[in-house]
Amino acid sequence: MIISIKPWLENAEAGQRDSDREGLALSSDAEMEELLKEGDRLGDLICFDSYNRMDFYHEPVLAKEVLDALQPAEGKQFYDGTLGGGGHTGLLLANGAHVIGSDQDQEAIEYVSNKLARYEDRFLPLHGNFCEMDRLLSEVGIDQVDGVLLDLGVSSHQLDEAGRGFSFMKDGPLDMRMDQNSDGPTAADLVNTASLDELINIFREYGEERSAVKIAKAIVAERENKPFERTSELANLIEKTVHKTGKKHPATKVFQALRIAVNNELGVLEEVLEKALKMLGPGGVLAVITFHSLEDRMVKQFMRSRSEKYVDRPEWPEPRPNPDYEVDLPFRKPVGPTDDEVDANVRSRSAKLRVATKV
Ligand SMILES: C[S@@+](CC[C@H](N)C(=O)[O-])C[C@H]1O[C@@H](n2cnc3c(N)ncnc32)[C@H](O)[C@@H]1O
Repeated sequence: MIISIKPWLENAEAGQRDSDREGLALSSDAEMEELLKEGDRLGDLICFDSYNRMDFYHEPVLAKEVLDALQPAEGKQFYDGTLGGGGHTGLLLANGAHVIGSDQDQEAIEYVSNKLARYEDRFLPLHGNFCEMDRLLSEVGIDQVDGVLLDLGVSSHQLDEAGRGFSFMKDGPLDMRMDQNSDGPTAADLVNTASLDELINIFREYGEERSAVKIAKAIVAERENKPFERTSELANLIEKTVHKTGKKHPATKVFQALRIAVNNELGVLEEVLEKALKMLGPGGVLAVITFHSLEDRMVKQFMRSRSEKYVDRPEWPEPRPNPDYEVDLPFRKPVGPTDDEVDANVRSRSAKLRVATKV
């Protein structure tokens, strides 16, 4: 397997060092991870052009920043609630750490179990929703970890697989469940059975879609003729209903909104944040990568509310200690991708990393 390597040009010196390696041929994932370990030791990160990889599944975003935050090392134990293609977990393992990882997508578990099989003495993949992390971890005898990673949303593999129904670009069943074993509603169920007001709310709240009313009305009229079954049927209707403005496909926000609703993404995020802090020992790190403003706002407010040492109210003579204070924030503003990362992986464009350290 030939992997082209793009240097993460954080500074000219590092760029020079890495450009010497351009075009290196690697025979296995093991070699790739060795190189990543080395890249990390050098203080920079080598980014693989994943589209040249035979087994492309998902490119980990903000990988260097996640490693900086979690500081993986031998003897440390992490929980990765969003295994996906195992990109971040592979890096934690390559740096000597133990990882318990979970994903609600059984396909992801199978893929990662295979890919990271050589770490079986330090890696435990589990199927499940991260909102149940306390149960998942306690069932395997773990009551504390050194770090929790959540890299929210869907993987590139899920988006690219037409059969999963996440993409308006590919025709497939209108499904969108990350957990295909769940008996929860699919996107088609929502589109075909939700009331007009419910659809408007979903599109407004989860998609911040300005044409929510127009689109919801068009859906309700159309489903009288024939229920929606395919992604293309919904995408085409939205395209006909609203005019394209800007670069985005007019169905972008509605598809995002349906995905959030189908997977109860904001509900499970609220649950997991609390649970994650409970599972961290002193100095433990919570790292969360979000991809849209609704998630980021929730993470920001949660972390801030737990990081204020004092709270104040107008009616109090002076600020009082905050009973919820339990984390410090190494940085208040979220960290985003470098221009080089966006060039190499356009899906990193809207990624934001927030980190909290347990006091
Ligand atoms: C962005 S990908 C993670 C990619 C991964 N960090 C990597 O480097 O390959 C998100 C993954 O999290 C999973 N996921 C999203 N929400 C989840 C939840 N509530 N519980 C469990 N898994 C979830 C998705 O199924 C998907 O596989």
